Amino acid sequence: MLWAASLGSAVALAALASAQHDGDHSPPSYPSPWMRGGNGWQDAYIKAKDFVSQLTLLEKVNLTTGVGWEGEACVGNTGSIPRLNFRGLCLQDGPLGIRFADQNSAFPAGVNAAATWTTRLFKTRGNAMGSEHRGKGIDAQLGPVAGGLGRVPAGGRNWEGFSPDPVLTGVAMAETIKGIQDANVIATAKHFIMNEQEFNREALSDGTPAYSANIDDKTMHELYLWPFADAVRAGVGSIMCSYNRINNSYGSENSYTLNHLLKNELDFQGFVMSDWWAQHSGVASAFAGLDMSMAGDQNLGSGNTHWGFHLTEAVLNGTIPQWRLDDMVVRIMAAYYKVGRDTARVDVNFNSWTKETFGYRHAGAKEGYEQVNFHVNVQGDHARLIREIGGASTVLLKNTNNALPLKKPSSIAVIGEDAHDSPDGPNGCDDRGCDKGTLAMGWGSGTANFPYLIAPVTALKAQAARDKTKFTNVSDNYDLSAVTAAVTGAEAAIVFGNADSGEAYITVDGNQGDRKNLTLWGDADALIAHVASINPNTIVVLHTVGPVIVEALKNNPNVTAILWAGLPGQESGNAITDILYGARNPSAKSVFTWGKKREDWGVDVVYKKTSDNPQLNFNEGVFIDYRHFDANEIEPSYEFGFGLSYTNYSYSNLQIEKKSPGPYEPTLGKTEPAPTFGTIDMDPANAQFPPGFHIVNKYIYPFLNGTAIPTGLPQTFPKGANDSSSQPKLGAGGSGGGNRQLYDVMYTVTATVTNTGAVKGTEIPQLYISLGAPTDPKVVLRGFDDLILDPKESRTFKYDITRRDISNWDTASQNWVISEFPKTVYVGASSRNLPLSGKLS
Ligand SMILES: *[C@@H]1O[C@H](CO)[C@@H](O)[C@H](O)[C@H]1NC(C)=O
Ligand SMILES: *[C@@H]1O[C@H](CO)[C@@H](O)[C@H](O)[C@H]1NC(C)=O
Ligand SMILES: *[C@@H]1O[C@H](CO)[C@@H](O)[C@H](O)[C@H]1NC(C)=O
Ligand SMILES: *[C@@H]1O[C@H](CO)[C@@H](O)[C@H](O)[C@H]1NC(C)=O
Ligand SMILES: *[C@@H]1O[C@H](CO)[C@@H](O)[C@H](O)[C@H]1NC(C)=O
Ligand SMILES: *[C@@H]1O[C@H](CO)[C@@H](O)[C@H](O)[C@H]1NC(C)=O
Ligand SMILES: *[C@@H]1O[C@H](CO)[C@@H](O)[C@H](O)[C@H]1NC(C)=O
Ligand SMILES: *[C@@H]1O[C@H](CO)[C@@H](O)[C@H](O)[C@H]1NC(C)=O
Ligand SMILES: *[C@@H]1O[C@H](CO)[C@@H](O)[C@H](O)[C@H]1NC(C)=O
Repeated sequence: MLWAASLGSAVALAALASAQHDGDHSPPSYPSPWMRGGNGWQDAYIKAKDFVSQLTLLEKVNLTTGVGWEGEACVGNTGSIPRLNFRGLCLQDGPLGIRFADQNSAFPAGVNAAATWTTRLFKTRGNAMGSEHRGKGIDAQLGPVAGGLGRVPAGGRNWEGFSPDPVLTGVAMAETIKGIQDANVIATAKHFIMNEQEFNREALSDGTPAYSANIDDKTMHELYLWPFADAVRAGVGSIMCSYNRINNSYGSENSYTLNHLLKNELDFQGFVMSDWWAQHSGVASAFAGLDMSMAGDQNLGSGNTHWGFHLTEAVLNGTIPQWRLDDMVVRIMAAYYKVGRDTARVDVNFNSWTKETFGYRHAGAKEGYEQVNFHVNVQGDHARLIREIGGASTVLLKNTNNALPLKKPSSIAVIGEDAHDSPDGPNGCDDRGCDKGTLAMGWGSGTANFPYLIAPVTALKAQAARDKTKFTNVSDNYDLSAVTAAVTGAEAAIVFGNADSGEAYITVDGNQGDRKNLTLWGDADALIAHVASINPNTIVVLHTVGPVIVEALKNNPNVTAILWAGLPGQESGNAITDILYGARNPSAKSVFTWGKKREDWGVDVVYKKTSDNPQLNFNEGVFIDYRHFDANEIEPSYEFGFGLSYTNYSYSNLQIEKKSPGPYEPTLGKTEPAPTFGTIDMDPANAQFPPGFHIVNKYIYPFLNGTAIPTGLPQTFPKGANDSSSQPKLGAGGSGGGNRQLYDVMYTVTATVTNTGAVKGTEIPQLYISLGAPTDPKVVLRGFDDLILDPKESRTFKYDITRRDISNWDTASQNWVISEFPKTVYVGASSRNLPLSGKLS
């Protein structure tokens, strides 16, 4: 397919027209929309109303506020309701398994899940993770991730999420959420929103505020908000807001992102929690739509709070109306009932703060020594799934003359530290904050302890023994003489390299979360070049968090194969052996673009403090990753959606069937007025610590401590924030994920995919659309599937194109519109290999 040559300048013009500026601000949006119990939330809403109606003020406040860091067993714990024998909610990281536990699994990272492009695996992985959380007594799993989406390739936490493409991420979000919640655990979609780099995501120690991601309305809707719409539509129970500011207002108190976009337009019915200590105000955040304060204390272990007893005060002094507090609590409890926590709950049986069996119940205060770890094994048979996803997510980028799969080679050499065990064991560094031995997850809060980690060398050595293959290996990347000896004359030399990244609170080798470069770590590029200078059958395996520069490897004739294995989790070695030896035919496709040089991506991490009020203007609009490469005619090493197989596929017979769903009607009408549940005792005397109450040090409570409540003082809060009257609905809203007609089917597209090779395989057909305007990307992904095909077998790929799929966000009407520009659909094997196309009339 040919790209129109004039597009680059049109894009530049479009970007200019929507340029963002330092100091952009979010328009105020009040009041905070109250829950209405729509979209599959009806039953949960009824149960939650019944429950919340019987609660006192203090009990309600207890459910909104964490007890503080290390106050209880989990990374996040709300207060409890002893009167009703209701323990507080337990919230635990993270997106690839349970953090800070034992007897749990370490799943492949989000980026690997995405690379399978297989909805069945998205959901099965979610369900397996959810069931492990359930088994430990966790109420809410803190994942999956759609923010950072992956604007910049070096973004430290990109691997926790799925892909810089919003549609692939959106589908992965929805299926992961369904999987987790089917296991009776609340899923938490995070981080809302624009958490696109680590540097300066939080205020710096010199008092500089977190960066402000300044973004225009169209880009927000067409790119960053898109996967969150899918999350809401899938019924996600909670959403975590981000550390950064958006248009100069913090994620936890931005009334436009929380009230307007999330709760009104997307009709989100669950609860919004803050990221840990990302809350910056009490009253303002409550009116802006925050429902739960995490970890409850203002700063790590500070013992003071924005909510807790301050929220009690704010209700008693007439600032926060009862309906807003009731809405917070009813949303929390509705999420609890929606996923069936009431029937599936077990006691919390692990402890985040010690690996020992006995420890402190309140670790922060060193109080309540008792059994805290019951070592419940929740792994089930998830190892099989982890191995399957590990293989199904390994992208074959290069395979000269069918170098792979290996067929009982006479000898192999396995080279590189990344193929080997860390001498310190797989959990040698806290939160995986080092790059030692084979890499199977990044670092930070989005990690889990490995129950074990199969290093590639272990599995490959076992395979070699079965095949009677001569086996040599070298782990030291710098011992080039040993490497020379090992690879000389070997039938295949398999070299492993990695690149790591993670969360900002840990710096590894000068990388403060974000990667400082896009090259391999530990001089692996030099190691590979050395091996390839000797061995003409050099096979490269990359364990990287995202793209690295591979152009030299691509062009090196002695590098016969390149595989991206990403962050495969505990079964790493078995999964890569399955692929290298053909027990599994590669089917994965790259979920990001591989540029030839760093500048090719157009946007990058800002690593330095730029001002006392740092501004990140997202002027590239929707042009990130392949959209940028396409628009600027930059040829990548490997494009988005690319991946080889041990067989070949052909595409034919595109058919487009037009449907007639009727015209798009903006949602009209008004909401009900805000409801309240039960009555609140407004006498401050009844909100004090009960006599003789035992206070745990630094623990956050809802009780007043003799505080006088001033009354009759002038209230200062944004206009309309306390308005409980019925409110107009948004035209683009009205249902989970936006106006339900956005999901009407406009066209059904089918195409035939045939396996033309000699072995069975799975092909991932991809459907892209050109929306047609000069300001649009050349193509955008809209659909995909995984088709299992025997040799010579054909199957039909089918995708239903929805109204949303062919619409643009129109800022003037504040709704989605189908532009007059001609639209074209493409089907093929990658974003740049699209043999079939047709007009959408
Ligand atoms: C940010 O400000 C721009 C105006 O420059 C506006 O178009 C956009 O809607 C705002 N977005 C948010 C999330 O506040
Ligand atoms: C709030 O939760 C704390 C911690 O679980 C508990 O000690 C306290 O009694 C609860 N307060 C009320 C009013 O239930
Ligand atoms: C009411 O209480 C809140 C929380 O302590 C406080 O922020 C606010 O200033 C108070 N308002 C008045 C009018 O006293
Ligand atoms: C080869 O791998 C084994 C683990 O299977 C390891 O103990 C050994 O140190 C490695 N050899 C070299 C030379 O690195
Ligand atoms: C890139 O960063 C990694 C990790 O810090 C380091 O090992 C490597 O040497 C760096 N690459 C270059 C070319 O400086
Ligand atoms: C490829 O390997 C051969 C040895 O088999 C060596 O002579 C040649 O220089 C290598 N080529 C490159 C580009 O390293
Ligand atoms: C796929 O087709 C190409 C081009 O015809 C051919 O070079 C290659 O060997 C085929 N690969 C397989 C695995 O059949
Ligand atoms: C409550 O107030 C008393 C008297 O001012 C003080 O000694 C105590 O530390 C306070 N307790 C808490 C938990 O703030
Ligand atoms: C909102 O607050 C203002 C200012 O305190 C007050 O005059 C008004 O009555 C309140 N409105 C509602 C609906 O409570």
